[in-house]
Amino acid sequence: MAELKNDRYLRALLKQPVDVTPVWMMRQAGRYLPEYKATRAQAGDFMSLCRNAELACEVTLQPLRRYDLDAAILFSDILTVPDAMGLGLYFETGEGPRFERPTDTIDAIKKLSIPDPEDELGYVMRAVSTIRRELNGAVPLIGFSGSPWTLATYMVEGGSSKTFEKIKRMAYVEPAALHMLLDKLADSVVLYLNAQVANGAQSLMIFDSWGGALSHHAYREFSLRYMQKIVDGLTRFADGRKVPVTLFTKGGGLWLEAMAETGCDALGLDWTVDIGDARRRVGDKVALQGNMDPSMLYASPERIHQEVDQILASYGEGTGHVFNLGHGIHQHVDPEHAGSFINSVHELSKQYHK
Ligand code: CP3
Repeated sequence: MAELKNDRYLRALLKQPVDVTPVWMMRQAGRYLPEYKATRAQAGDFMSLCRNAELACEVTLQPLRRYDLDAAILFSDILTVPDAMGLGLYFETGEGPRFERPTDTIDAIKKLSIPDPEDELGYVMRAVSTIRRELNGAVPLIGFSGSPWTLATYMVEGGSSKTFEKIKRMAYVEPAALHMLLDKLADSVVLYLNAQVANGAQSLMIFDSWGGALSHHAYREFSLRYMQKIVDGLTRFADGRKVPVTLFTKGGGLWLEAMAETGCDALGLDWTVDIGDARRRVGDKVALQGNMDPSMLYASPERIHQEVDQILASYGEGTGHVFNLGHGIHQHVDPEHAGSFINSVHELSKQYHK
């Protein structure tokens, strides 16, 4: 396997010294890039793009050709796991993901089986190994999955939701059913992420996009507990290096201390918290990733520069910060603005790493 040429992303996650603050963008391969839209059109629909290892590799590499990014992220989706459990994922244009067979009853949950990552999810593993090979050691490859709670919201609701009516009803009326579902998902995710590492992923991120919809106590019971189970089950070393794990609960700013206790290496921050406060709260336990509002990329390069400056100053001296957006990049962002954002991070952060 090729030697890693740029490892500052892995080093920052493990709180080792770096020359500048590493940066990547959530959803960096996506519809804001014209070359992504062209490859997606060639593939047909979104899932066909995910199922084609060569094309998934191509779209993963597209943002790296344009920008000086410090990490690549596997091109796939969190919903591949429920799809492999037999729910029948499809995308309705303009409406986001849907499932043909939602799991909203205890009987449906009982019937769910745990997918074999090398079989039903073999296409993801082929994408991982293809990307790792084609990266040729340029930057590390991030593998990922959804958190059990976030995956369960889509599975129980049958698609995206704003109110989480069905799953919250299940949480409070039939908690045993939901726990059975979350437990099966945690087992599935452990196998899936360990297989990604076996196939070449060098770092892992767990997206808990909807953990922030839970109450203080329910977050611990239905989301954090299952992310803990995943962290406990993960392969933590590969190729003689530690495989850092990042937990990202969107809207989870109030719970950072509890998240840091899980034994993960880093926390993802959305834009609602001050990164300096977050650093003081978690101390030396974990590194931090974040946290510019993705909408700031609509602003001028000068305004973006100022914002980057402020976030870097708030984090302060030393390692342990991976710069990122607080959530995925929006599809109507000008690709030039994304480029100047990345350059601002590298240029302005030098002074904090002397
Ligand atoms: O970051 C990357 O570049 C890697 C690829 C990636 C995608 N989805 C590609 C994608 C990653 C890491 C994800 C994660 C994901 N998927 C999450 C967690 C992160 C988050 O945003 O909170 C969630 C909740 C999903 C579920 C999902 N997939 C939704 C809600 C949608 C529709 C979004 C929309 O804007 O239409 C998707 C589809 C999807 N996944 C797209 C991409 C590039 C857009 C599909 C297209 O090309 O039309």
